[in-house]
Amino acid sequence: MKTGEAQAPNPGFMSDMKNKPKRKIHIFDTTLRDGEQSPGASLTPDEKLKIAIQLERLNIDVIEAGFPASSEGEMKAVAMVAAQVRKPVICGLSRMIPRDIDACRRALEKAAKKRLHVFLATSQIHRDFKLKKNKREIIEMAVKNIRSARKDFRQVEFSPEDASRTERNFLAEVVRAAIDAGATSVNIPDTVGYTVPQEFAELIRFLIRKNPELGKQVVLSVHCHNDLGLATANSLAAIHAGANQVECTVNAIGERAGNASMEEIVMAINTRRDFMKCYTDVKLSEIMKTSRLVSHLTGMVVQPNRAIVGRNAFWHASGIHQDGVLKKRQTYEIMNPKKIGLAGSQLMLGKLSGKHAFSVRVKKLGFNLSAAELDEAFLKFKTLADKKKYIFDEDLEAILQDQVSQIPETWKLVSMKVISETGQMPSATIKLSRHGEISEASSTGDGPVDACYKAIEKIAQSKAQLVHYGLQSVTGGKDALGEVVVKLVLGTKEVTGRGTSTDIIEASVRAYLFALNKVCQEPKRAQEPSSPCTRIDVRV
Ligand code: KIV
Ligand code: ZN
Repeated sequence: MKTGEAQAPNPGFMSDMKNKPKRKIHIFDTTLRDGEQSPGASLTPDEKLKIAIQLERLNIDVIEAGFPASSEGEMKAVAMVAAQVRKPVICGLSRMIPRDIDACRRALEKAAKKRLHVFLATSQIHRDFKLKKNKREIIEMAVKNIRSARKDFRQVEFSPEDASRTERNFLAEVVRAAIDAGATSVNIPDTVGYTVPQEFAELIRFLIRKNPELGKQVVLSVHCHNDLGLATANSLAAIHAGANQVECTVNAIGERAGNASMEEIVMAINTRRDFMKCYTDVKLSEIMKTSRLVSHLTGMVVQPNRAIVGRNAFWHASGIHQDGVLKKRQTYEIMNPKKIGLAGSQLMLGKLSGKHAFSVRVKKLGFNLSAAELDEAFLKFKTLADKKKYIFDEDLEAILQDQVSQIPETWKLVSMKVISETGQMPSATIKLSRHGEISEASSTGDGPVDACYKAIEKIAQSKAQLVHYGLQSVTGGKDALGEVVVKLVLGTKEVTGRGTSTDIIEASVRAYLFALNKVCQEPKRAQEPSSPCTRIDVRV
C-alpha cells in the first residue's frame, strides 16, 4: 500500500472470516411487548407463545414477553411463555409500583430464567408534566422499588424512560443510584426516537465514564425508537461505544414508528464484524422464518424494500447488476441470502435483463436449448417483458414449454377481434393462415372464448370436440400471465393444447390452435369408433 493511501473497508464477503470477535452483544427482543404496542398488532396468548417459541429457535438471549399488570390476558400470555420457553431469559415489564412488580412476580413464577424490567421517566418534561415529581423524588422512587424487587428477582433491569432527553448529569446520577440499589442491567431508552448516532454514542461513553461497571458487571443496554428512522443506526453507534445489550423487535414493529430492527442489528453486526468487533448468538438461518411468522400473526405486512427481510432485499433487477452477481455474487450483494434462511439471491428478470441472466435462468429451470432455440426464446421473453414488468420462473417455464413442445404450425393466428359488451352476445372475428393462405370467419358465442372457438371451427372444419377448458394465472399481480389448457377430441384421439398470454382470450385462442395443429398432425383414423366425449360449453 502506498503511503497516505486510505485503507479500503473490508468488502462484505470478508466478514465470513474465521476469527470470531470476543465481545458478545446480548439480544433483548421486545416484539411481544413494545412490538405489540404497534397500533393494530395485538396478539392472543397462544400467538404470543408461538412467537416466543420461534424466538427461542432464533436463539434470542432475553424475551420481553409483555406487561403483566396491564390485563388478565397479558398476565396469562407472559405466564404461558415463562412456563414453556426455557432457554432464553423471560422478562416482564413493570412500572415502579409494587402492584406491577407483584404482577411480574406471579407471571414469571414458572420461568427457568427470569428478569424484571422496571422503568421510570427521568427527563424534565416527563418529571414536570407526567409524573409531577422532582429529581430527588425520582431517585428515591427508583432506589426503593429496585431494592425491594431484588428480593424476588436476581435480575432487575432499570430503564430511565426518555433517557436521551434527560439532563446528562442527572441521568448519570440516577443510573448510579440504580446500580447501588441492585440493578443488574441498565437500559438507556431513546423513548421518542430523538437522538442521532454521534450524540447517542457520546452519551453512552459519558455514562460509562461516570459508572465504569456499565457494560461489564452491569449490563448496559440501549432501546431505540425509529421516529427519525435512526433506531438501528443509534443502536449500532451505542454498541460501538460500549453498550453490550440491544433491545429490538422483529420487523422493527413497535410503538409509533417502531423500534430498532432485530434483523438489521444482527446482520449489521455479522456483516460488519470487521468494524463492529462483536458478535451475537442469534441463529441467522431462522431470521426469515421469524420475520414471516411475526408478520403473519400481527398482520403487519413487511414493506417490500425493507432491509434483510423485505421481498426485494435480495432481488437484482438491473441487467448490469445481474451480470455482476452472476460473475461474482459479492459485486452487488453484501450478505448471502442463504444465511438468513432464503434460497439464494434472485435475479428479477425483466426488460432490463440481458441474455446472460436469461440463459443462466433457463439452464437452472432444467431446459437445454440450442443456441438458435435460446435466441428465439430470448426474443419471446423480451416481447413478454415489454408487456409485463417482471418475469417470474413460472412465466419463463410457460415460454420455454411452448418452445420445446413446438409442433408444425398448420394453422397460424393472423389477427383476432373480439367484441364483448354487457347485455349483448359476444362476437369474434378470427383470421388464420394455412400454408400462406388467409381465411377469416366470424361468430357469436355464449362467451368471448366460445365465439372465438366457433369462428376458428368455421375456418378449420376439424370437427374436433372441446372436452376440457382450464384457465389459471401463472403468476401473481394484475399483469400476470394467464395460462389456458384445452383438450380436443377427434375420433379416439385426445390432444392437449396450452397457450399463455397476458390477455386470457388470446391465451385461449393460442391453446385451441395449438391443440388443433396437433390434431391436424395426427393421421385421422376414420374407421375407429368415435369418442364418447361430447362438446363442452365455454362461457368465459
Ligand atoms: O421506549 C421506552 O422508553 C420503553 C421503556 C419501557 C423501556 O419502551
Ligand atoms: Zn420503547
